[in-house]
Amino acid sequence: MRKFFVLVGSVLAAVAHAQTPAQDRLKAIQADPVALRAAVDAGKKTTFFCANCHGEEGISKTPEVPNLAGQNPAYLLEQIRKFGSGERKDQFMQGLIKVLKDEERVQVAQYYASIKVPPSRADAAQVARGKELFGKLCARCHGEQAHGNELYPRLAGQKLPYLQTSITRYRDGTGIRNNQLMSIATATLKNEDVVAVANYLTQLP
Ligand code: HEC
Ligand code: HEC
Repeated sequence: MRKFFVLVGSVLAAVAHAQTPAQDRLKAIQADPVALRAAVDAGKKTTFFCANCHGEEGISKTPEVPNLAGQNPAYLLEQIRKFGSGERKDQFMQGLIKVLKDEERVQVAQYYASIKVPPSRADAAQVARGKELFGKLCARCHGEQAHGNELYPRLAGQKLPYLQTSITRYRDGTGIRNNQLMSIATATLKNEDVVAVANYLTQLP
C-alpha cells in the first residue's frame, strides 16, 4: 500500500512539470509553426558553447556526455530546470545553466528536439537479453521503441556509458538524480542487466 502512495506521488510530481511557465511557453511555441522555426534558429545560436561537450547538432562524441539530439523538448526543459534548482547534480551543468534565460532554455530544448539522433553500435550478445528486460520493466513508460514522450525521456540511440551510469545512479539512490519511478523500476536490476539493457537501447533507431 505504501508503495502505491509513493507511486501516485511520483506520478503527480512527474506530471507537475508540464505546468511550469516554461513548459506552457514551450507548448505555445509548438502550436505556432513560425514561432517554432524562430525558436529552433535562436536555439542553434545559443548552443554554440554546449557543442564543446554535447557535440555539433547535439550528438555527443564523449561517452559520458549524453546526446541531446532527438530528445523530447519537455524532458530537456525539465532537466535544465532540475540542474538550475540543484535537484539534479552535476557541478558543471548546475553552474552553466544559470546563465540561460527562460526563453533561451525553451529555444535550446526546441532546437535539440528538432534534430535526428543516429543509433550507436552495441554488443550484439547483450542486445537480446536487454530487449527482454526493457519490454518487461521499462517499455510501459519509455515506449515500445524507447522514443519516450513529454514525461519520459527518449532512450533510443543514447550513449552507452551515459545510459549505464544513469541507470545505476537511480538504482543505487546516490542522490545525483532522484526519481521514485526510476528507483522502483531499476531496483531489481543486477549490474549485468544494466549492461544488457544499455546495449539494447544504444543501438535502437
Ligand atoms: C563541459 C561539458 C558540458 C558542456 C559545455 C555542456 N554540458 Fe550539458 N551535460 C554535460 C554532462 C557531463 C552531462 C551529464 C551529467 C550527468 O551525468 O547526469 C550533461 C547533461 C545535460 C542535460 C541532461 C540530458 C539528459 O539526457 O538528461 C542537458 C539538458 C544539458 N546537459 C544541456 C546543456 C546545454 C543546453 C548546454 C549549453 C548551454 C550544455 N549542456 C553544455 C556536460 C556539458
Ligand atoms: C514508471 C515509469 C518509468 C519506468 C517503468 C522506467 N522509467 Fe526510466 N525514467 C522515468 C522518468 C520519469 C525519468 C526522468 C527522471 C528524472 O527526471 O530524472 C526516467 C529517466 C530514465 C533515464 C535517464 C535518461 C536521460 O536522458 O538521462 C534512463 C537511462 C532510464 N530512465 C532508463 C530506464 C530503464 C532502463 C527502465 C527499465 C529498467 C526504466 N527507465 C523504467 C520513468 C520510468
